[in-house]
Amino acid sequence: MASGMKTAGNSPTGGSTRTARRRRATAPSRTSTRREAKPRKGRVSVTAITGAAHQAASDTASESRFLRACRGLPVDCVPIWLMRQAGRYLPEYQATRAKAGDFLSLCRTPELACEVTLQPIARLGVDAAILFSDILVPLPGMGLSLAFTEEGPRLDPVRTAADIARLRVATHEDYPFVPEAVRLCRRGLPANVPLIGFAGAPFTLMSYAVEGHTSKQFTQTKRLLFAAPEAAHQLLDKLTQTVITYLQAQVEAGAQALQIFDSWVGVLGPEDFATYAAPYVRRILDALRPSGVPLIYFAHGGCALYPQVGQLPADVFGVDWRLPIDAARVQLGLARARSRRGPKAAKVTAKAIQGNLDPIALLAPVPEIERRVTDILRRAPRRGFIFNLGHGIVPETPVAHAQALIEMVHRLSARSRRG
Ligand code: CP3
Repeated sequence: MASGMKTAGNSPTGGSTRTARRRRATAPSRTSTRREAKPRKGRVSVTAITGAAHQAASDTASESRFLRACRGLPVDCVPIWLMRQAGRYLPEYQATRAKAGDFLSLCRTPELACEVTLQPIARLGVDAAILFSDILVPLPGMGLSLAFTEEGPRLDPVRTAADIARLRVATHEDYPFVPEAVRLCRRGLPANVPLIGFAGAPFTLMSYAVEGHTSKQFTQTKRLLFAAPEAAHQLLDKLTQTVITYLQAQVEAGAQALQIFDSWVGVLGPEDFATYAAPYVRRILDALRPSGVPLIYFAHGGCALYPQVGQLPADVFGVDWRLPIDAARVQLGLARARSRRGPKAAKVTAKAIQGNLDPIALLAPVPEIERRVTDILRRAPRRGFIFNLGHGIVPETPVAHAQALIEMVHRLSARSRRG
């Protein structure tokens, strides 16, 4: 696997994790624009996560430009990874998937999941790996049926209070293949390429459980929220407990950062985000905080929610392409708006931002990709920035364009940001 791999060539330019922590501790606190509803009963206790995995995570932290950027530390050039970087646009992924037979078997076979996790590291030279799995993988452990068809995921929907009451909270025994895949990946990855674990956010997972598939209108999901809020909160609570345990299992096995995907939260208005999404995401972030790994929250389609999103206790906010990244930072409360007096957006917190190239831009000619990348690099902060797409890479992406993207982000950011 290592042959032909581009090494990241990290040479951090100083700073320390301790300074960053101190800086964050003294960052001005902001008052909430909208009060979140309190999460319902059944709060999962904060289990202290221990073990060698953490030691290893903090050891590599000083070498990896991805983990350094998550903590707002100086880096030699901007780190980059791509959502869905292991996927159908890669011929080697297609080959492993054919070997596995079907998508869920691929997710449930640690050796094959590890193989595809490592493929984009060798092929693209990205600065982080993301565990190959799917946000829906923990749901069968709750008693939900799951299959992947040509048209995407299919679940037997839960729609009534009785359906929801029957669901369990999934435990480690339900997905032993996940921590096993994490361990294999950690063994196979170079020391300076950290492994990101992930889970879906409760609202996004709820939409699959209630609709039974990827939705456009989210009619059933919203009907449950608005017509049967007690049952909806019960479902969100069970999903939250499941996600916390699921993420803890990944960190215990060696995941060095975590991303929470809230892919469909953009369909909620601000009041419903405050009631049905934010409190549960907050609970997950609070529960994972003691693990010490950087926590990334990605609210896809959530521009209008950014003033609330920015109040959540994540270390990194993932943003899509719908706002220029400097405007997204302002909306999130990570930077002040540019004023006539000062040309630079003043920094107000040490939190990092991740994004935000439109994934379809990778279908454009390379000079057009480079123009867009240059613009993002110009707008993004010098520290605390991780380059990514604004959503997952699409199967139509030419591999050469993905490779060109990684190369140009490293080259352009090293040249323009040195010193
Ligand atoms: O980022 C990575 O490389 C890690 C792997 C990963 C997959 N899915 C693999 C996958 C991750 C992080 C996910 C997350 C995921 N899954 C999300 C959140 C991110 C997002 O895109 O918003 C969601 C909503 C899902 C649910 C899901 N999984 C759908 C709707 C589909 C079918 C449509 C599609 O895009 O393919 C999947 C299948 C899926 N998950 C594939 C892959 C590589 C394709 C399966 C195949 O090989 O046919």
